[in-house]
Amino acid sequence: MTSYISHLECTICGKSYPHEQLIGISPCCEKVLFARYDLDKLGREVDRDMLVSRPDTMWRYSELLPVDDPGSIVSLGEGGTPLIKSVNLAKNLGMRNLYIKEEGLNPTGTFKARGISAAVSKAVELGVNGFTMPSAGNAAGAAAAYGARAGMETKVFMPQDAPDANKKETLVAGSELNLVEGLINDAGREAVAVAKEMGLFDLSTLKEPYRAEGKKSMGLEVVQQLGWKMPDAMIYPTGGGTGIIGMYKGFKELLELGWIEGKQPKFISVQADGCQPIVRAFDAGADTSKMWENATTKADGLRVPHPFADYLILEAIRATGGTALAVSDQEMIAAMYEMATAEGIFPAPEGAATLVGLKKLLDQKFLDPDESVVLFNTGSGYKYLDLISGPEGK
Ligand SMILES: Cc1ncc(COP(=O)(O)O)c(C=O)c1O
Repeated sequence: MTSYISHLECTICGKSYPHEQLIGISPCCEKVLFARYDLDKLGREVDRDMLVSRPDTMWRYSELLPVDDPGSIVSLGEGGTPLIKSVNLAKNLGMRNLYIKEEGLNPTGTFKARGISAAVSKAVELGVNGFTMPSAGNAAGAAAAYGARAGMETKVFMPQDAPDANKKETLVAGSELNLVEGLINDAGREAVAVAKEMGLFDLSTLKEPYRAEGKKSMGLEVVQQLGWKMPDAMIYPTGGGTGIIGMYKGFKELLELGWIEGKQPKFISVQADGCQPIVRAFDAGADTSKMWENATTKADGLRVPHPFADYLILEAIRATGGTALAVSDQEMIAAMYEMATAEGIFPAPEGAATLVGLKKLLDQKFLDPDESVVLFNTGSGYKYLDLISGPEGK
């Protein structure tokens, strides 16, 4: 169970860098670095079915994750979440193969646990003893938990108006909480400056190569859970885009290994009406996005006005024949009730957004009810109780 990581590669010019050194963005182009694996060797030495009998966490895919020394892995049991086949929503929508990937069951209640576990583990392997983390909220909670587990100094930076649950989960795990005026990009600037000043590693979304590797494991799980078959479409609530980018990359790796065959699923990006830089860029046929001014949405994970890896998100959507669309906060909140009432799954507003997106795309006939579709509920609704009315209707 060792990694087959071979090197890091610049996503713009393809230049290689060793993975044994601490590195954030690519020094050549100042863009995203991807972890690359020796897939020829892996394909010769490992059979996909060997992975199935291992303990049910994302680390069952260790060969395709970046940590060489299993002793460096910092795990709280992330991954191994159920792919729940919808019964009632599917019936209402006339679908036969609708699934919900229930990421709310991860440690700290969101899929962020996967990316942070991968990045913190690699940081341990490389001898890091502290990091900074800018976050819309949920990544900070995960960073605090994994930082605590690893015994690392952890400084998180989040917008002043981030959800209370995120502030409290950060504090309870002993992280330093810095509240920043503005949005995640402002938090990012501060996190980078403090990291530089104090010799800490900055774990900003896609400004280091490993969080995307952890998120990739969501896609590996989905295909394994479908009997090594890809669905026709996947609907993903997109902020910084780590999940979309990681899963698209992961499917390419599985295809190259010959562990799956066929066409990648259509990657569908759902954003919020009040912050939709990717939708605007997709509609304009652009390769990159522009800053979305005055971003506002109650789905804090989607409040990312200018994703650093926009070019990779847009590539994943376009290369797979997917699309991008925005939904309103009101629609998301109504869908939180709808998913919980129909299926017993209490989603985060970001996860609920995928249900709104699905309905719109069925109406527009972009999706066909006969297609197999996976909705990603990226977080638990229990972290967003303020969006739900109490018994007095407040
Ligand atoms: C619950 C939730 N869903 C979705 C997202 C967006 O994730 P990504 O950065 O992978 O686009 C976030 C990010 O903060 C989140 O917290």
